[in-house]
Amino acid sequence: MIVAVDGPAASGKGTIARALARHYGLPHLDTGLLYRAVALNLLRWGGDPGDERQALKACDFSQTDFADPELKSEAAGGIASRISAYPAVRAALIKRQRDFAEQPGGAVLDGRDIGTVIAPDATAKLFVTARPEIRAERRFAELKRMGLAVHIEDVLLDIRARDERDSSRAMAPLVQAEDAVLLDTSELGVDAAIAQAIAAVDARTSP
Ligand code: DC
Repeated sequence: MIVAVDGPAASGKGTIARALARHYGLPHLDTGLLYRAVALNLLRWGGDPGDERQALKACDFSQTDFADPELKSEAAGGIASRISAYPAVRAALIKRQRDFAEQPGGAVLDGRDIGTVIAPDATAKLFVTARPEIRAERRFAELKRMGLAVHIEDVLLDIRARDERDSSRAMAPLVQAEDAVLLDTSELGVDAAIAQAIAAVDARTSP
């Protein structure tokens, strides 16, 4: 069984994908981490995120520690959103994601284009979203917990900018797959959101 979980930044898709993976006993891949790893490589090498060829060179995970907390930084997220618009970068990362999705027994993947490009034949697809203000509040709380000094207005601006970039790029834009179940978590607590996600997957998988 392949479960595809897509949605915009800070929508709760990662939390939901991890909970689904636990519930169904499946491995989970946060595909945003791949784009963030490319961004962090560029940042550390002093590369130019405006240059597609340099971004492509940064698609080398030989030195990447996927547990590195820097991957979760706003700087890495912002650059990830920029370099993820490059067709060469997306092409370089596609095999790794498809191989993960197609492993025996199945998997849960979350990202922007799982249900549309990486695993269009996924068993169940969820599109997780929430109003930008709510997503900004969640991201703000998370950044504060990480000890980072940020203003909520800046977090909201950043979220809107990322939504715009992720949705308007020509290749594999953030868009709800036709056969995805929409899950708006704006008014839902974590447990309720997870329960609805499990119910949606069960509905797709029960005979
Ligand atoms: O989910 P995230 O915030 O960690 O993702 C960071 C950026 O990576 C996001 O702004 C766009 C890009 N991304 C993508 O283009 N496709 C994916 N499947 C996952 C992430």
